[in-house]
Amino acid sequence: LRIALLFGGRSAEHDVSILSATNVIQALNPDRYDIIPIFITREGKWLLSVFENGALSKPEEAVQICLLPGGHGQMITIAASGLSLAPQKIDILFPILHGLHGEDGSVQGVAEVACVPLAGCGILGSAVALDKDIAKRLLREVGLRTARSITIYQSNPPCFSDVEGVLGMPVFIKPARQGSSVGVSKVATDSEFEAALVKGFEYDRKLLVEEFISGREIECSVLEDTSGGLFVSRPGEIMPAESHSFYSYDAKYLDQNGAVLKVPANLPPETERSIREAAGSAFKALGCDSMARVDFFLTEDMRFFVNEINTIPGFTDISMYPKAMAASGRSDAEIVDRLIEHGLA
Ligand code: DAL
Ligand code: MG
Repeated sequence: LRIALLFGGRSAEHDVSILSATNVIQALNPDRYDIIPIFITREGKWLLSVFENGALSKPEEAVQICLLPGGHGQMITIAASGLSLAPQKIDILFPILHGLHGEDGSVQGVAEVACVPLAGCGILGSAVALDKDIAKRLLREVGLRTARSITIYQSNPPCFSDVEGVLGMPVFIKPARQGSSVGVSKVATDSEFEAALVKGFEYDRKLLVEEFISGREIECSVLEDTSGGLFVSRPGEIMPAESHSFYSYDAKYLDQNGAVLKVPANLPPETERSIREAAGSAFKALGCDSMARVDFFLTEDMRFFVNEINTIPGFTDISMYPKAMAASGRSDAEIVDRLIEHGLA
């Protein structure tokens, strides 16, 4: 089975994707799969990569790849010597891309247009889950609790006192369509608020101002089988170090001691059951399929809020999706086999 594994990408999570893809490729059994790694540059070019000595290459100029529309996996290669049809077709496209232009339905649409199977969540679920504003509306519609928020646009940002009046302080300011906490700020004062808007708008035209929920960060991994049944993992907990005011990009990927993961989380059985059930409901409410990680806040009085849903969750060494799955008896190899099986079904 020939798999095109996409990594890198145009989003702010380019580097995180490389870490994730390096682990995913190692989980794919080489006796079973013939893997073609494709590096997507920050500009969006698809370049033929290789996996060697435990690392994926990031060619600067190399053989460019193009999936032929309607080609059922046929690829065109563009090299210095010219343009040619790749000798073999791919059987499935496996994107390990985070954020915009990869986890948002766009690359999923490329698979559809190329008439090639896709591993992971499809167009609609991907697009909806990546937009925190739209996702929240759908979550609320099925009765799932989410942090109260205001959606704002660059053309008409609210003033600090209006926000404080509605949501109190502190609040989080987040780009609606980003991951890994890129562009996110926690603010309590007027000047922090203004700076956070500037930073947020660097990443998106639409921001969410969200009330601060004081609680534990709990996450569940969801994996769908080919008949639509959902396997929801035991929840894990992320405990950011006290040196970080929240689980920021730096706490995640730059500070080795930025957080501690406890898997499974220490929760009363009844709370664990409710959270796992809510993870499945959230997955369905957003029209997801195949895979997602559902993130929650759990308050001291045991109320939980859905924070967000990631349809291509991180597979880095510090990522929760594979760890929560492992704690529930599913290895990385089983996860990737299942994603491929699901995509081909
Ligand atoms: N967006 C990052 C990769 C995550 O959710 O794990
Ligand atoms: Mg996310």
